Amino acid sequence: MNIHNYEKLWLIAAMLLIIGFIVTITYGSVGLGIAMIDDSEETIDPNALEDHERFGDLGVHQTGDGEYDVNIRAYQFNFEPGSSALGVHDPIVVPENSEVTLYVTSPDVIHSFSVVGTNANTMVVPGEISVMTVEFNEAREYGILCNEYCGSGHHGMEGVIEVVP
Ligand code: CUA
Repeated sequence: MNIHNYEKLWLIAAMLLIIGFIVTITYGSVGLGIAMIDDSEETIDPNALEDHERFGDLGVHQTGDGEYDVNIRAYQFNFEPGSSALGVHDPIVVPENSEVTLYVTSPDVIHSFSVVGTNANTMVVPGEISVMTVEFNEAREYGILCNEYCGSGHHGMEGVIEVVP
């Protein structure tokens, strides 16, 4: 009788363990605990950027005292504005001592937007808006690079931010 009870106990324990594994695996594969991209962010139509309130109006916009928004399209194989490669010279120009919020999206494939010499470095995903704020306190040039392989012209996908006095 005692032995039977122990057997039942072990059976129940084994069942609970199996259920536990299934729950863990299901939880993991559904990805509830893993969010590489914040799903709460607004998504946009990458094929209709010109109709979007922000990306229909590319470039630098002053939003306050020393505060600027820059709306940027990263596409194969340029930044608009910002490009300094492939025969295009279209720098992003902002004054020194400014706080600049960069909004970047892509109409085609995944790129990245990295401001060399700062910690601004983000993936740019079609249908999503990448946002980063950088303080530019020094009048100088900053390079922009695409760090995400995006096709044959990837290595030439470069840009420049000119911080002017
Ligand atoms: Cu765009 Cu690499």
